[in-house]
Amino acid sequence: MRQTTSRKRPARIQARAGWATLYAWQVERATGTPIFRQVYLQMRSAILGQRLSPGAKLPSTRALATELGVARTSVISAYEQLLAEGYLSGRVGSGTYVSADLPEPVERLRPGRGKVARAPAPLSAQARAFAALGAVAVEDEDRPFTNARVLIDARTIEVWRRLTQQMFRGFDPIHRGYADARGLPELRRAICDYLGAARGVRARPEQIIITSGTQHAIDIAIRVLLSPGDEVWVEDPGYPMTRRALAAAGIALRPVAVDTQGLDVRAGLRSAPKARAAFITPSHQYPLGIMLAMTRRLELLAWARETSGWIIEDDYHSEYRYAGRQLAALQGLDEAERVIYVGTFNKVLFPGLRLGYAVVPPPLIQSFAGARFLIDRQAPTLSQALVAEFMRQGYFAAHIRRMRLLYRDQRDLVVGELQRRLGARIAVTAPEQGMHLVAFLRDGLSDIALEAALREHGVVVRALSRMYLKAPPRQGFLLGFTGFPRQVIGPAVARLARVVAAAKA
Ligand SMILES: Cc1ncc(COP(=O)(O)O)c(C=O)c1O
Repeated sequence: MRQTTSRKRPARIQARAGWATLYAWQVERATGTPIFRQVYLQMRSAILGQRLSPGAKLPSTRALATELGVARTSVISAYEQLLAEGYLSGRVGSGTYVSADLPEPVERLRPGRGKVARAPAPLSAQARAFAALGAVAVEDEDRPFTNARVLIDARTIEVWRRLTQQMFRGFDPIHRGYADARGLPELRRAICDYLGAARGVRARPEQIIITSGTQHAIDIAIRVLLSPGDEVWVEDPGYPMTRRALAAAGIALRPVAVDTQGLDVRAGLRSAPKARAAFITPSHQYPLGIMLAMTRRLELLAWARETSGWIIEDDYHSEYRYAGRQLAALQGLDEAERVIYVGTFNKVLFPGLRLGYAVVPPPLIQSFAGARFLIDRQAPTLSQALVAEFMRQGYFAAHIRRMRLLYRDQRDLVVGELQRRLGARIAVTAPEQGMHLVAFLRDGLSDIALEAALREHGVVVRALSRMYLKAPPRQGFLLGFTGFPRQVIGPAVARLARVVAAAKA
């Protein structure tokens, strides 16, 4: 994956910090091997085994001799021999380091390497499945139109800095120990107030479990509510990361088509009547952006009530509504305690924050709290306290208001530029909500082929057809429009248009 020039990675040589002082060196007197040789052999093996990196600072001969309970001359002899052989650099007595320029490439010197050909141990099916995901887990792409990128303005940055400093100045005892796995009470209260006012969610603060985001909340819901082999409804097309979490847990995916009203509940009832749960994005269907119609909401709730099924409502970015009426959350209509509402700060604020929440019916509070505790104990209390303060002092609402204007402007520019440059080759309309838009391809063009070609030209899109499981796939692109200022959007759409215009079916 491409790296930006502005982002600095820590250099390897920074390992100088002196981990070698923490190394568990040992000597044994009964072996007959001279002490100096034991020290020499251990150091050499640690260097060759790459357990000590080039540039690492070694303990002083005096400190190591004291730690080992041996004469200092033994340690000095070992260091001198390693210096003479080129494994160490510096001068005994004034700082000794693992040589940055080892006598032979470490890989070749490594004991046993290349001598015995050992077949790699077979990996489990789980390990292989996770490895396939590991290849895509390095999400540091920042070129237009990568999804879920955000622009944080100077006002929010300033407030964030100030609150962070305040938190660290106080460094209250709550931040120094373990805390309630369900989350800090002040954050849960703030979320409760916000969701009640903005999304019509009906809950008490006790029902809120703080997570690291949607993905974490979904994972907890799967562990708590489902068993391997259970069937669940997923939207078709739908959000790949939810499906991956379900598949990894051995859950049987039952794709249910999405039409102009959202999830087709009756189709789900026909094709998978035994489903235990439905994972859905009702306020802005991912990826198509359709709002689940009221009749469908009522049908879905009736299904859950009658079959004791669960509804996992992923309300991932309802904060960014640009036009039109928004329906309240499904959770607010639920009289039977069947809905788990999942929300996140990672989109409305920024993905690196890693904070989100689940709102669970009272009978599930302890189970969710227990699962959360087992997986990862608790969310970092400093960030929780910071977000709670950010909300309490009104900055959260103000941030949303300002970002809404900015993102709406960027959305309009992307849509306008796409229409102007590609005209009839694509069908695109401005979504009323969210952080991405969908441009449908015409003329029989393949979105997967174009996705690869566009990447070569510095434009990142997600092929829509990949998000279908069973329904006939439509060809199109998802374009994230929130992370890129106007001056980036124009040239990027121009590049995109050139590639699409040159493509053949
Ligand atoms: C449908 C959907 N849900 C949730 C999320 C956010 O997930 P998280 O809070 O784990 O970052 C995304 C991010 O792209 C998304 O597309």
